[in-house]
Amino acid sequence: MAAGIISSGLLSTLLLLLLSVSANSLSYQTLTPHSLPQPNKSPFTDSSDSQTLTSSNIENENENTISLDLHHLDTLAVPTNATAESLFKHRLLRDSIRVKTITSLAAVKGHANATRPGRSKADFSSSVISGLAQGSGEYFTRIGIGTPPRYAYMVLDTGSDIVWIQCAPCRRCYTQSDPIFDPSKSKTFGGVACGTPLCNHLDSPGCNQRKKCMYQVSYGDGSFTVGEFSTETLTFRKTKVNNIAFGCGHDNEGLFVGAAGLLGLGRGKLSFPNQAGRQFGSKFSYCLVDRSMSAKPSSLVFGNAAVSRVARFTPLLNNPKLDTFYYVGLTGVSVGGVRVPGISSSLFELDNSGNGGVIIDSGTSVTRLTRPAYVALRNAFLSGASHLKRGPNFSLFDACFDLSGKTEVKVPTVVMHFTGADVSLPASNYLIPVDSSGNFCFAFAGTSSGLSIIGNIQQQGFRVVYDLAGSRVGFTPRGCA
Ligand SMILES: *[C@@H]1O[C@H](CO)[C@@H](O)[C@H](O)[C@H]1NC(C)=O
Ligand SMILES: *[C@@H]1O[C@H](CO)[C@@H](O)[C@H](O)[C@H]1NC(C)=O
Ligand SMILES: *[C@@H]1O[C@H](CO)[C@@H](O)[C@H](O)[C@H]1NC(C)=O
Repeated sequence: MAAGIISSGLLSTLLLLLLSVSANSLSYQTLTPHSLPQPNKSPFTDSSDSQTLTSSNIENENENTISLDLHHLDTLAVPTNATAESLFKHRLLRDSIRVKTITSLAAVKGHANATRPGRSKADFSSSVISGLAQGSGEYFTRIGIGTPPRYAYMVLDTGSDIVWIQCAPCRRCYTQSDPIFDPSKSKTFGGVACGTPLCNHLDSPGCNQRKKCMYQVSYGDGSFTVGEFSTETLTFRKTKVNNIAFGCGHDNEGLFVGAAGLLGLGRGKLSFPNQAGRQFGSKFSYCLVDRSMSAKPSSLVFGNAAVSRVARFTPLLNNPKLDTFYYVGLTGVSVGGVRVPGISSSLFELDNSGNGGVIIDSGTSVTRLTRPAYVALRNAFLSGASHLKRGPNFSLFDACFDLSGKTEVKVPTVVMHFTGADVSLPASNYLIPVDSSGNFCFAFAGTSSGLSIIGNIQQQGFRVVYDLAGSRVGFTPRGCA
């Protein structure tokens, strides 16, 4: 009897102890380790002249809504000898080139008298530079160009504005998977004259002998497209969008991996969402699936249906020097339910000269945080994950774990605190496989630049809403369903 009382007293003391420990301890969630996505061996299979209908969460598709499937680059144009590892290494390589280009673009714009990198052409005083380099832009979709519509793959890019397409006759065209667009065979193709307001929207318009407006887009790696700025009808599934100003590129060079051109989804005046604003309310959203965990395609929606009612929104910020990128306010990051002390909003401030800040981008894979923020985040994660066996550093990652043989692991939660929106990441958005032997890495990286970039690995599974009219970006968890 007495012994019973003593042990129950002990028990309640123990319980109290446990409770007080757990009150101070971190919060965790479960990661089910999975492997790298396997290479898809049927490149460019979608040769249909219309979009395949897919089930999406967007009902009542009508004139004012379009929903499209997105294809990841690694499911198109896959080399026959590609392995999951080689695709992932190439993705990281493209990623570092893209980050370099975006960073130099933002830096150049911040310093008005610096010379711009990239190619210069005799007929242009300076060139327009896109955030996209090395033909990266990780996602593609199929759209119709002209009347009757000719369907082709286009790269989607939230880091640039101008829509462009390779056009016959080619002075120089790289190889694409669909026939080159021939404007002489389209009934809706129109030219743009020099000196018109439309032409003057270009950063550095040119003029040829025929008094036609010339555009040029250069990329950090020497890729470029040059031609006549023109107008055309684009078809998305059954929906036509008339009079879209686009670059009809007669001289194109670069690694655009088989795409016919690029659909600029930036925030600038000439981007597709802004040009199509009347029809689609200057709104779009996408949901990028984790390809190693889902067979569902990623999707892109234009129109009011793009905005989910349960999205959490953060206001877009303006960079006075650069209207293309989507700047957001990041005030901090929590690991295991605790704000990381070394990460304050001052590390992410966009100043009046356009330096610093945080952008959200579809074409960057790994989120880059300005180095002091990254170091604080990594250290907080490592201390919360001290129960996991460390693995070797891999590429740009320096917080890796050996999860081989594990079917479930507990990992500290990670929440990104945007102004007005706390975004709690699924475990698979920050602890990702880097090989087939069970090595996983914390999928953030540091950058020596002041500019931080929220990449697409961290966006997986969210419906990310770009509401240009409302100047806000929103996140809906589990938004791919
Ligand atoms: C695939 O083959 C090409 C050309 O032979 C080679 O350059 C490349 O390294 C190979 N890739 C892999 C992953 O083996
Ligand atoms: C811009 O040019 C002015 C005058 O030449 C110079 O004083 C200034 O340092 C330059 N600024 C930058 C950022 O290069
Ligand atoms: C991993 O990288 C970090 C930072 O660069 C370094 O301090 C650490 O020693 C590296 N670890 C290994 C195992 O190489």
